[in-house]
Amino acid sequence: MRNLNVHFDSYHVLKNINVDIPDGAITAMHRPFGCGKTTLLKSLNRLIESNREVKVTGEVLVDGENFYAPDVEVTQIRKKLGLLSQRPTTLPMSIYGNMTFG
Ligand SMILES: Nc1ncnc2c1ncn2[C@@H]1O[C@H](COP(=O)(O)OP(=O)(O)O)[C@@H](O)[C@H]1O
Ligand SMILES: [Mg+2]
Repeated sequence: MRNLNVHFDSYHVLKNINVDIPDGAITAMHRPFGCGKTTLLKSLNRLIESNREVKVTGEVLVDGENFYAPDVEVTQIRKKLGLLSQRPTTLPMSIYGNMTFG
C-alpha cells in the first residue's frame, strides 16, 4: 500500500498508509476496535467501493499492478486477492447473482 487514504464522507479513516506485506507469509494486524482494520482489508481489493460515501486515494500494488489504476477490471483483481469476512455476507448483487457467483 502506498499513501492509501480512505474517507467516509468527511471522516478520514485511513491516513497515508504505507505497508509492505511479504509474499507467502502470514501477516497479522492487531489494533484497537474501530481503528480501521476492516476498512483497510476491504480497501485492498476495492470491496470498500460498495459504500457509496467512500473516497479512496493512493495505491494498492500487487505484483507491481496498481489495483486502483483507472483501467483496472475489479473482477480480475479479486481473482488475485480475496477477502474472507468474519461473518458471511452477501455481495452487492441479487440473491440469484450471489448463489451463482462461483
Ligand atoms: N460505511 C461506513 N461509513 C462511515 N463510517 C464507517 C463505515 N465503516 C466503518 N466506519 C468507521 O470507520 C472506523 C473504522 O472502522 P473499522 O474499519 O470497522 O474498524 P476495525 O475493523 O479496526 O474495528 C470506525 O470509526 C467506523 O465507525
Ligand atoms: Mg473490524
